[in-house]
Amino acid sequence: MKYGYFDNKNREYVIERPDIPVSWTNYLGTKDFCTVISQNAGGYSFYKSAEHHRITRFRANAIPLDRPGHYLYLRDEDDGNYWSISWQPVAKDLDKADYKVRHGLSYSKFKCNYQQIEAEKNIFIPLDDDLEIWDLKIKNNDDLNRQLSLFSYLEFSFHEIEIDNQNFQMSLYSAGSSYQNGIIEYDFYYDPRKYHYFTANFEADSYDCIRDQFIGSYRDESNPIALERGVCSNSSKKGGNHCASLNKKFNLAPGEEKRFVLILGVGGREKAKAMRKKYSNFQNVDNEFARLNSYWDEKLSNFQCKTPHQDLNTMINTWNLYQAETCVVWSRFASFVEVGGRTGLGYRDTAQDSLAVAHTNPDKTKERLIQLLRGQTSGGYGLHLFDPDWFDRDSEEIEFESPTVVPEPDLDDLIHGIKDTCSDDALWLVASVCNYVKETNDLEFFEKVITYADQGEDTVYEHLKKILDFSAVQIGITGICKGLRADWNDCLNLGGGESAMVSFLHHWALEIFIETANFLNRDQDVEKYSEIAKQVKKSCEENLWDGGWYLRGITGSGNKIGSKENKEGKVHLESNTWAVISGVASKKRARKAMDSVNEYLYSEYGLHLNAPSYTEPDDEIGFVTRVYPGIKENGSIFSHPNPWAWIAEAKLGRGNRAMKFYNALLPAAQNDQIEIREAEPYSYCQFIMGKDHEEFGRARHPWLTGSSGWAYTAVTKWILGVRSDYQGLIIDPCIPSEWDSFEVKRKWRGAEYNIKVTNPDNIEKGVKEILLNGIEIAGVIPQQEEGSVNEVKVKMG
Ligand code: GLC
Repeated sequence: MKYGYFDNKNREYVIERPDIPVSWTNYLGTKDFCTVISQNAGGYSFYKSAEHHRITRFRANAIPLDRPGHYLYLRDEDDGNYWSISWQPVAKDLDKADYKVRHGLSYSKFKCNYQQIEAEKNIFIPLDDDLEIWDLKIKNNDDLNRQLSLFSYLEFSFHEIEIDNQNFQMSLYSAGSSYQNGIIEYDFYYDPRKYHYFTANFEADSYDCIRDQFIGSYRDESNPIALERGVCSNSSKKGGNHCASLNKKFNLAPGEEKRFVLILGVGGREKAKAMRKKYSNFQNVDNEFARLNSYWDEKLSNFQCKTPHQDLNTMINTWNLYQAETCVVWSRFASFVEVGGRTGLGYRDTAQDSLAVAHTNPDKTKERLIQLLRGQTSGGYGLHLFDPDWFDRDSEEIEFESPTVVPEPDLDDLIHGIKDTCSDDALWLVASVCNYVKETNDLEFFEKVITYADQGEDTVYEHLKKILDFSAVQIGITGICKGLRADWNDCLNLGGGESAMVSFLHHWALEIFIETANFLNRDQDVEKYSEIAKQVKKSCEENLWDGGWYLRGITGSGNKIGSKENKEGKVHLESNTWAVISGVASKKRARKAMDSVNEYLYSEYGLHLNAPSYTEPDDEIGFVTRVYPGIKENGSIFSHPNPWAWIAEAKLGRGNRAMKFYNALLPAAQNDQIEIREAEPYSYCQFIMGKDHEEFGRARHPWLTGSSGWAYTAVTKWILGVRSDYQGLIIDPCIPSEWDSFEVKRKWRGAEYNIKVTNPDNIEKGVKEILLNGIEIAGVIPQQEEGSVNEVKVKMG
């Protein structure tokens, strides 16, 4: 069963039936103002922080699904019949009303055709104004004159989400609303900085700022009393639950079309006046929408591919990057699953997300890296969850606009030392920092001095050394890294034991650092860290090989996790993939380990995180044993580590296997199986129910997942094989043998490279010849002149 299709030309996903059993969301906004919105226009907005500066309200985990939202209603003045321009909340019979939604890049278009009235609402957030535009076009396709009335509706939220959800004593009595000259202002009595407004390019015929006046008692958004009466009650007051309804009556002659613009913004009445003036000019609306489209065109033009695999093209050229950017820009705490109760940065998540978009968003990548470096302690570990505002506010040199919405913290409350530390957090950062420099050539970044979260400061380069040194001493008796509070797997706590995965990660980070130190001629460091890397490799190979695959860890009391000796949780995905990616595993063991992954963890919906699932609680292993079998970290198809297996297979030269794994997880490939998948086919999800669960194949928690960044990295850098290095661009594909050729357009350090790869012998890996602008070269492609367009011909063999 399907609900829509990919429109690749317009880079949109078109939803043809809005009655999907779950919400399919989109993210609007590219900078500070964000809206998460569903195919039913349900959702909410916030400014910088979904926790501390909420703008509109959302009833989380509620029924009916995804309410309230950013709604427009139309009412036929002749017979009093009314409907909404998104299918919900009025939910007209879909046999009588035609609803289509186009989720595009940072905009969503809601189209409705009902009783000869065609309406389209395009919602987007301009690049440089802190507001959301609802650009509405209504056309009369009837041969009769039609008298209509338009009503907007949204619910304002108290700016602190915790108060809005839990402490109505405060939210109900210190926020107020007022209407004047076409502008509704929502204000906070005790914090005059936090205004929101709603306005339109028209004077309202009636309005409501009080939710319960608009909706009426014992009613909801599907049948507001104001729509029934055909007029709002001109309500506003100090205190209460506030909404924004502006009502306008208008006529449409046969064939006539009218356009209205409505605006939800951050700021007070003065700001609202200025923005109302600006956007009452339709040309400005059109220009801002065009600018937003160019913003994405420009971004996407940094990497475009043409391969024989249509779904891969669709994902890589548009949706996968879009999702990866969303994770970097909005972090991981604003969705319909996490509704803003937590904000800030998860150390490991953001460090990994930042790996994927250095070529499309170098500024934001750098900003995130600096924030993470500031969230690193002088002891070398990262604060697991922190708000960058805690540290940005004290920084003398503010390189990017510092948000002001987060309350000031007490540092003593934040830094508790090793007992709260996750063993993997900061290790990811080594690769992300080096990747950023390889992409941009911003070598000075290594010398930039950045403060530590607790005390002191150092260059970025020295920060990285501290991270590696921390893991070098946080080891158990076998030399394997301690798991500490947890490693990447939040639910595998190992009872104070050791983590194979972290030792592999340590080795990976060491190799990347050694390469960097070499490039920077830091010979002493090369020597010192090569010695550590040798030791780490030795400890891993001596202690972690289990015969057919690698162990996942060793518990505090010495029990093996992820071993043939275990009844449950025998094979784990993370340790085996990282044994290969890190360069620790010998070729023979690496192939065997990945064969075991294929044998024990593969399914048609992706690779399971571990198998068989745990069925008995065991706190020595961790919380993972207290989650139902087949769900989340206990034997689901956890998406995030899946691309690690594609990279591992690509490193082993097995392109067919890498593609088999890729295809299993591929959201776009499940477009016609929504009865199983349920979730959006344009987004990777955090996990998919595993074989041990009765809903095997059902995808959960879309958008905010590390799988987006890693999937993008795995395909672009390891399968298509185009990756930047300090000295040049590497081209090293590992593809399915059936591919005869593929093309990549890549922008790198200001020049363009049109790469055409042919595969005459139908092999999986190996490059025989590279021609740069007709001249054969050996090794990497050296950086070409800025502005140049270069032809690169690669022959595999
Ligand atoms: C969630 C967390 C991430 C963790 C993963 C596995 O996705 O955000 O930090 O690594 O679960 O436990």
